Amino acid sequence: MAPSSSSPASSPSTSVPPVTTTPEGTTVAPPPPEPSPTPSPSSALPRQFSLTDPSSPWLVVNKHRPLVPADYVPADLVQPAVAATASGESALLNSTTAAAAEAMFAAAAQEGVAMVLASGYRSYGTQVTTYGGYVASRGQADADTASARPGYSEHQTGWAFDIADGGGACSFQPCFADQPAAMWAKANGHRFGFVVRYPWMFHPITGYYYEPWHLRYIGVEAATDMVNRGINTLEEYFGVEAAPGYL
Ligand code: DAL
Ligand code: ZN
Repeated sequence: MAPSSSSPASSPSTSVPPVTTTPEGTTVAPPPPEPSPTPSPSSALPRQFSLTDPSSPWLVVNKHRPLVPADYVPADLVQPAVAATASGESALLNSTTAAAAEAMFAAAAQEGVAMVLASGYRSYGTQVTTYGGYVASRGQADADTASARPGYSEHQTGWAFDIADGGGACSFQPCFADQPAAMWAKANGHRFGFVVRYPWMFHPITGYYYEPWHLRYIGVEAATDMVNRGINTLEEYFGVEAAPGYL
């Protein structure tokens, strides 16, 4: 297990990310800056789940914390009954996340917000191809700001997925943050156990630029506690070190 600490992770830089390519594709300008975040020291709820077991909803995987085993495959992958552009394995989630996603998508729809599952589970082998594609087209340094190396992706756990808006606007681009599905998920995701895993300006802690489409299940209690305490990253919430780059 990676070293953990009771002290908060270092504060993120307030520098604006460069114009860059987004995880799944298009070259776009970054969104305008939001107020500088001021993460507060915190401890999580009483430790209920492992931070290292990939079958745990509190797993913290980042550039310092690879999956063990690296080729982990969830035992309970299922296809949630939600609108999806994803197909094949990427339409799957682990069973807990699938049930929560179904509830969240239905609640969003009830409020007139169309949400689509754009990418769910990705195996180690798929991530080899995905990450390798970024490296080939953009070089490793840029790829590492957007795509996890194989064995380091939350997508491999079944606990995370990417959403798109019903109309498909701004998919996997920074402007997705302003689409109804993203705004709804950011405001309401915690009620279903989800957090936006890679928030704006926290790349010095998470290792990735803003991904308003990438939601991670940690359970309703923890997600709500994070929101109530104003804590933005799992690293800070669970008291593990920031992971801006690979060790
Ligand atoms: N885009 C996220 C970081 C992943 O590849 O898992
Ligand atoms: Zn994602």
